[in-house]
Amino acid sequence: MQLKGSRFAILLVSAALFLFAEMSVMAQGPGSGDNRGAQQFATVCASCHGSDGTGGKAPSLMAPNIVALSDAELIKVVHDGTAAGMPSFAQLGDAKITSIVRYLRTLQGQGNMAGAAAATGDAAAGRALYFGKAQCSSCHMIQGKGGFIASDLTAYGRSHAANAIAEAIVKPDNPVAPESRVVEVQTKTGRKLTGVVRNEDSFDIVLETEDGRFHFLARRDLTDVHYTDHSLMPHDYGTRLTPAELNNIVSFLIVVGQTTPVEPAPPGRRHGGGH
Ligand code: HEC
Ligand code: HEC
Repeated sequence: MQLKGSRFAILLVSAALFLFAEMSVMAQGPGSGDNRGAQQFATVCASCHGSDGTGGKAPSLMAPNIVALSDAELIKVVHDGTAAGMPSFAQLGDAKITSIVRYLRTLQGQGNMAGAAAATGDAAAGRALYFGKAQCSSCHMIQGKGGFIASDLTAYGRSHAANAIAEAIVKPDNPVAPESRVVEVQTKTGRKLTGVVRNEDSFDIVLETEDGRFHFLARRDLTDVHYTDHSLMPHDYGTRLTPAELNNIVSFLIVVGQTTPVEPAPPGRRHGGGH
């Protein structure tokens, strides 16, 4: 009883901290720093990328592959330019470049903000579901916590609108990405394994099963390799979750996506693996 009580207190404190973190992010909102970024963007970037960043002489900065760049990568692009024609703006200095990138993020976020406004859920309740009853964390890492078998969802809410996130949860595999297909294999000894292929060539298959174990299999030891048309993402969230619960999880993903600074990618690895 004693333990339960203190656990509950810890939960309450962390919920409060979470809300507080959210509020302080909101409070930073479009403050003076962003105004400076907006002015700089209008003076320096708008002539090529358009005043709202949706493109002109130069491409739109709202394209998913550009939204997906980390803050550090964007800063590097503005600082160094690119071989394909983006000039270097190193002379602006780091502080100005950073405020431009921050403003660019708000431009890119506006589409999502509309989504966030539509997601009227309770993000703290969504977090509890994600790590608790809905078991999302058994497969998906978020903010450094959770499983490895499926993709990391930390940045997902940054580049997806609320309705698209809800769809991905209740109507998964639409269509299934080739690398996410569940594969069923049977060995000559009659052993059956179900998992995701992490590597394969004409001789071997590396299968990761849901428990996170890797199995190195020689094709000549297998009697059957069957690629299904679905991933490991459960198909019953539409019935397992109430609409309010779904909305709470969607809101949690959006809040995390918009408030977690994307970690700088390791040097030399731009655009990332993506999908
Ligand atoms: C003289 C025209 C010009 C100006 C001014 C300009 N850009 Fe660009 N920018 C380009 C062109 C052309 C490309 C496409 C080349 C490429 O993708 O590498 C580009 C690409 C980009 C990219 C995508 C790079 C990538 O890796 O895909 C970003 C981000 C970007 N610009 C941001 C900015 C910002 C922020 C500013 C203002 C500081 C700015 N640009 C000013 C011409 C310009
Ligand atoms: C049994 C493992 C498992 C569980 C549990 C699970 N997922 Fe998934 N999920 C996957 C797999 C596998 C995919 C396919 C793409 C990938 O590998 O991430 C996926 C895809 C997704 C996608 C689309 C990702 C993208 O990059 O297109 C979202 C969003 C998502 N899941 C959210 C959730 C949420 C929210 C929960 C909890 C309500 C959840 N998932 C529970 C395994 C799981």
